[in-house]
Amino acid sequence: MQKTALVCGAGGFIGGHLVKRLKDEGFWVRGVDLKFNEHAETRADDFIIGDLREQSLVRSVIDRRFDEVYQLAADMGGAGYIFTGEHDADIMHNSATINLNVLDACHKRNIKRVFYSSSACMYPEHNQLDPDNPNCAEDSAYPANPDSEYGWEKLFSERLYLAYNRNYGMECRVARYHNIFGPDGTWDGGKEKAPAAMCRKVAVAEDGGVIEVWGDGQQTRSFLIVDECVEGTIKLLRSDFEGPVNIGSEEMVTINKLAEMVIGLSGKDITIKNIPGPLGVRGRNSDNTLIKEKLDWAPTEPLIAGLETTYKWISAELKKRV
Ligand code: NAD
Ligand code: GDD
Repeated sequence: MQKTALVCGAGGFIGGHLVKRLKDEGFWVRGVDLKFNEHAETRADDFIIGDLREQSLVRSVIDRRFDEVYQLAADMGGAGYIFTGEHDADIMHNSATINLNVLDACHKRNIKRVFYSSSACMYPEHNQLDPDNPNCAEDSAYPANPDSEYGWEKLFSERLYLAYNRNYGMECRVARYHNIFGPDGTWDGGKEKAPAAMCRKVAVAEDGGVIEVWGDGQQTRSFLIVDECVEGTIKLLRSDFEGPVNIGSEEMVTINKLAEMVIGLSGKDITIKNIPGPLGVRGRNSDNTLIKEKLDWAPTEPLIAGLETTYKWISAELKKRV
């Protein structure tokens, strides 16, 4: 029998890549999203344009016992979206409603395996003040103190999925993604994250020009290429470990270093100008001790390789616009 999968958020960045991977594996795939992906044709067998905040839509989409369900739909974006405070009510309401609806419909259809994409944004701010030594070990989550409402919603929803495991015998799997990047992701419009923003700014800049980078540029992050994110996601869903577990890279860099890496790829002579902007935590890095122990796997691709692919893709997208 052909296996079946549902991808919620299939019109998004990671969801689009996940659909491709599941199709390569021979799955019959249904995708659902408010929109199609702007950058790539979907390979889903069935793609439903619909709003997962509507319970009746969710029930009609989850009309069979899918072998695997991936819940990636969320109201999300990079620092320019989640740290300004302007979208807090929408972010919390929209994402929590999606999670409540999807999980309950899966339970009612007796679906066991549901993947949930949480975020490193749920980790406490007080452990991410030192840019050189952030603590994002999974067991550092409590006492909880995320620095954004986006992070609080993720923490609530993680708990929701794990409560369904305990009370209803489901086998949900929870990952905490750390800043995922790559081709077909958002690269302008305000929701883009730092890697795409740096690629766009550098691609647009003239040789001898200047790019603006928010903050003093000494804040740290790690960035994971989307293919490795999809690999970890699938491995986790099919494993015996419920999580929550980090899926991220341990190659931590300052944001100015990230910008310098992209500038280096461009071959242009570009100066960085640090300006005020939405910042988020001072330091963040994935801790992959637990994923190595439980899944015997962790990402390995160097940041520069993913940046090279992404810079080429964004440069080509820009050229299509002129
Ligand atoms: P994305 O914004 O590209 O994809 C999310 C998709 O959800 C979008 O296509 C959006 O249209 C869809 N969506 C939103 N509201 C919906 C609704 N009401 N009904 C139907 N669809 C709806 O984001 P992404 O980068 O692909 O992230 C996927 C998941 O991973 C999200 O849950 C996100 O919070 C989580 N995550 C991502 C990152 C990252 O760096 N990309 C990091 C941590 C966590
Ligand atoms: N987006 C963006 N754009 N960030 C910039 C820019 C810019 O032009 N210049 C500097 N930065 C800095 C931000 O100020 C922030 O300190 C850092 O780069 C990283 O920003 P983002 O990549 O936008 O977000 P994040 O790492 O703080 O959070 C992201 O990762 C989380 C998981 O680790 C977001 O995508 C969250 O939604 C996600 O959950």
